[in-house]
Amino acid sequence: MRIDVITGHPPLFAGPLSESIVKRAQEGGYAQIVLNDIRDYTHDKHRTIDDTPYGGGAGMILKPEPLFECIETLQRERSYDEVILTTPTGQVYDQSLCKRLSMHENLIILCGHYKGIDQRVVDELVTMELSIGDYVLTGGELAAAVIIDSVVRLIPGVIGDGESLLSDSFMDGELDCPYYTRPPEYRGLRVPEDLLSGDHKRVEAWRRRASDRLTRERRPDLLDEASRRRKKND
Ligand code: ADE
Repeated sequence: MRIDVITGHPPLFAGPLSESIVKRAQEGGYAQIVLNDIRDYTHDKHRTIDDTPYGGGAGMILKPEPLFECIETLQRERSYDEVILTTPTGQVYDQSLCKRLSMHENLIILCGHYKGIDQRVVDELVTMELSIGDYVLTGGELAAAVIIDSVVRLIPGVIGDGESLLSDSFMDGELDCPYYTRPPEYRGLRVPEDLLSGDHKRVEAWRRRASDRLTRERRPDLLDEASRRRKKND
């Protein structure tokens, strides 16, 4: 998979792309992540990427010309499955969207700006607007990094042990259960007996119960959603 990020702040990606699984995915040839600096598509001396909004008001808006030029340049080189804009006004990103994106070949992620981007870019070139939650970030870069991280780890082969992906929270519409490691007792706190039993069936049953309980307590909306989906498929 190739992901082209379009941003006015490439250094913001230095950390998230150069550590852990995302780093390994790039080194292993599973993901190619290319940072495209919007300033490289400007033509004025000051390399201006934003301007004040028509009609007044606070904040700056990303200008259309460099964004059109950047996206069209990339699209001439290859075809893209989606051109994603990160914005708090987008569809809320979740694991099912993440799974869908992980099956694509080429993605563009355009990082929104504190106040916004010229709407003509959205109307003409963007195919999907995504928000990572109901709060406002300074820019779309951190949201793009979140999307990249969550998508790249689902590319087949990136995480060796397929099991560990399947038990992730949200993969089957529930929260994942709590986990323990050695020692079996610490400061008088015992690991649940079922997990120490060595009996695979008991362990599985404990995990299922714990997962159900946690989901019911914290995210009943997920259960409603899962039962709606089951009914639809019946
Ligand atoms: N840009 C600013 N806030 C955002 C959010 N919550 N999700 C995606 N992009 C954003």
